[in-house]
Amino acid sequence: MDPPGTRAQRCRLHGPQGERPGPGSFRPGPPCVGSSSGTAPAARRGERPHEGRAAMRPAQRSRHETLALRQQLIGSSCKLFFSHDPVKIVKAKGQYMYDENGRQYLDCINNVAHVGHCHPDVVKAAHEQNQLLNTNSRYLHDNLVDYAKRLSETLPEKLCTFYFLNSGSEANDLALRMARQYTKHEDVIVLDHAYHGHLTSLIDISPYKFQNLEGQKEWVHVASVPDTYRGLYREDHEDSVTAYANEVENIIEQAHKKGRKIAAFFAESLPSVGGQIIPPAGYFQKVAEHVRKAGGVFIADEIQVGFGRVGKHFWAFQLQGEDFIPDIVTMGKPIGNGHPLACVATTKQIAEAFAATGVEYFNTFGGNPVSCAIGLAVLDVIEKEHLQAHATEVGNFLMKLFKELKTKHPIIGDVRGSGLFIGVDLIKDQAERTPATAEAEYLITRLKEEYILLSTDGPGRNVLKFKPPMCFNMEDAKLVVDTIDRLLTDMEEQRLNQDKTSTCST
Ligand SMILES: Cc1ncc(COP(=O)(O)O)c(C=O)c1O
Repeated sequence: MDPPGTRAQRCRLHGPQGERPGPGSFRPGPPCVGSSSGTAPAARRGERPHEGRAAMRPAQRSRHETLALRQQLIGSSCKLFFSHDPVKIVKAKGQYMYDENGRQYLDCINNVAHVGHCHPDVVKAAHEQNQLLNTNSRYLHDNLVDYAKRLSETLPEKLCTFYFLNSGSEANDLALRMARQYTKHEDVIVLDHAYHGHLTSLIDISPYKFQNLEGQKEWVHVASVPDTYRGLYREDHEDSVTAYANEVENIIEQAHKKGRKIAAFFAESLPSVGGQIIPPAGYFQKVAEHVRKAGGVFIADEIQVGFGRVGKHFWAFQLQGEDFIPDIVTMGKPIGNGHPLACVATTKQIAEAFAATGVEYFNTFGGNPVSCAIGLAVLDVIEKEHLQAHATEVGNFLMKLFKELKTKHPIIGDVRGSGLFIGVDLIKDQAERTPATAEAEYLITRLKEEYILLSTDGPGRNVLKFKPPMCFNMEDAKLVVDTIDRLLTDMEEQRLNQDKTSTCST
């Protein structure tokens, strides 16, 4: 690793919010007495967490002590990034995160901190409303209606009814209930490798998860990802839109033959876990036509990709064309800039069918005045700081740099994206486009050592995914691409040396 701060000093940057904190702006607290590596962590010594050093403020605890306590207290299925050498983050601002030693990391992946980590306007809105009132939505409050009104201004007119919740999973679960209630059908068509949330209902419609569990339920149907790079129908296909949509039509026909009925087609507007995929424009229109003909609805999961991330539009489904409008849209992650907030937007007809059961929909925290104040502040910042235009400008620049890099490094097979949603597909060979999984993992680890946080997605875990806070700027883009260029050159040289050694020894 570089000495602390070395890379950070090259990284004093200015984003759309003005001054960004430089490397010296965060001073970690004094080191904890006795926290040196020579002392066994509390957990390893078998102390109970509320005793002894566990009472220390978290920032004072060493990274190893925190890790030991986490291993002792937190379920092992809750995974860490870089599990072999995890990072302890104690502070963040804009597109930067800081570890317990004040080292600055460039965050290329956190799409939740949408307008920038700890944005002062968002923090202020939360603080001010917290001092006044926070209660459930059974009382009249202006924040709720103001927020619903502001969101409605970003959406097509027909999506005019709103429900507020606390997480993307809750939003998708409600969307599923609504679709079933409205259509009186049960079945769902999803895209392969999709992830829609952690609730039981959503694991069932997430091939990314259920493939490793009990498998596919009889009411779930899986369609191919409309991936024109590595999918069934590629860029050289004469009409990949129709070919992929016909597959959905075929799935519906097969389901009907078994006496099953489709409630919904459920898809991320841009499949992210599926590998940062950009479906060809017109695909959703054709799918919606088949699904609606079968009495189902189209649910667009915008939990990762909404709120202007794609630059050109506020919602990623709008990339398909103005003639496409989903029946239900789900929102989460970036909506609250880190505060637990989520939303379902739908049509009057679907909302009325959902209400027709007479059963109240009550969500204790959903739509409370603090959450709505935060949601409003996020929308204000997106507007005030022109973050959509910024995402287009920086995203185009980042993709241009990667496309240039592709001509130099054959491991880069494809560069795709829109705004600040970008995938760089690493391959082993041009002919088969075999995912370069191990190389991608190695690169991510090396980048972390350079204080750049990036991760991979896709079934082959070979697609570098860029979803940074929207204040990520041109200098950040240049730094990341220059660093990746240097690391790839290094990897190529290592490979060459290995090949030479093995040739000499034979
Ligand atoms: C596309 C998509 N939908 C839904 C969810 C679930 O959101 P949450 O983790 O807020 O419940 C996620 C979370 O990663 C997601 O990526």
